[in-house]
Amino acid sequence: MAEARYLSVKDLDAADTLAVLGLAARLKREQKQGVPHPRLAGRTLAMIFQKPSLRTRVSFEVGMTQLGGHAIYLGPSDIKLGERETVEDIALTISRMCDLIMARVFGHDIVAGLAQHATVPVINALSDREHPCQILADLQTIMERKGRFEGLKAVFVGDGNNVAQSLVYGGALLGMSVTVACPEGYDPDAGLVADARAIGKGTGAVIEVSHDPRAAARGADVLYTDVWASMGQESEAAQRKNAFAGFQIDAGLTAAAKPDATILHCLPAHYGEEIDYAVSRTPNSAIFDQAENRLHAQKALMVHLMGA
Ligand code: CP
Ligand code: NVA
Repeated sequence: MAEARYLSVKDLDAADTLAVLGLAARLKREQKQGVPHPRLAGRTLAMIFQKPSLRTRVSFEVGMTQLGGHAIYLGPSDIKLGERETVEDIALTISRMCDLIMARVFGHDIVAGLAQHATVPVINALSDREHPCQILADLQTIMERKGRFEGLKAVFVGDGNNVAQSLVYGGALLGMSVTVACPEGYDPDAGLVADARAIGKGTGAVIEVSHDPRAAARGADVLYTDVWASMGQESEAAQRKNAFAGFQIDAGLTAAAKPDATILHCLPAHYGEEIDYAVSRTPNSAIFDQAENRLHAQKALMVHLMGA
């Protein structure tokens, strides 16, 4: 039987996603009350990073500590994935010593390859296709702010990137409509959108792609954005700055959304580009709740994948 994995938001069905979110809320409460929950005592997480990170590394490492386990950081220069050793041999070796693997990679095929060969669960901690752990935490944040998913409209403004693509799946799974408002040429993957639309048919979520941010934002319950140039796209930054002008969460765009619209950004942010600093500090902004919920959501995910 294939090991449990979380490479995509859709690797958990709606029921399991809601169960993980319920556990995340419980672990958050317990942690704030000082109630210990060593559910992964004696277990070790290997954390493979091909790219930099603040939130992902800290949340996974702190999460394992709080669960009574241990995490090992394997940075780009430590294992030189695909260079010093093959993905297959790395997966097989780590599986002999660790209980769980998370990996932040460039190509999605790398994390898929780890999952193919590992004999322990593998978690995608960001690839060029998806950032499912981010969206799991964001779903927790949306639930905290709105108390539901069904009937909500989330609008992602900016690049149709990994974060946007995971949001599309998250909405489709849980009945929250998602519009990705992006410049032409920066659409989310058409196959992924079609797949999410098919899932959304069963939950009532409408998945749309728009090239008009102001029209898309009308009536939004959630406004989400992310950097215009992702890690690995630094050489395109200047060109993207031109292409993405107007695809920004600022006072004008928030005025088009519902007055109580929740503002989300996965961070790190480029203030003055995809988000206005002042808007990011309003009471509607939940950007640091999102960051904190990485900890709780991923703890719940690890417990779920380990069956602990
Ligand atoms: N949002 C997020 O994944 O942040 P890091 O890149 O700092 O891990
Ligand atoms: N889309 C961004 C997300 C960073 C957390 C990137 O891939 O760099």
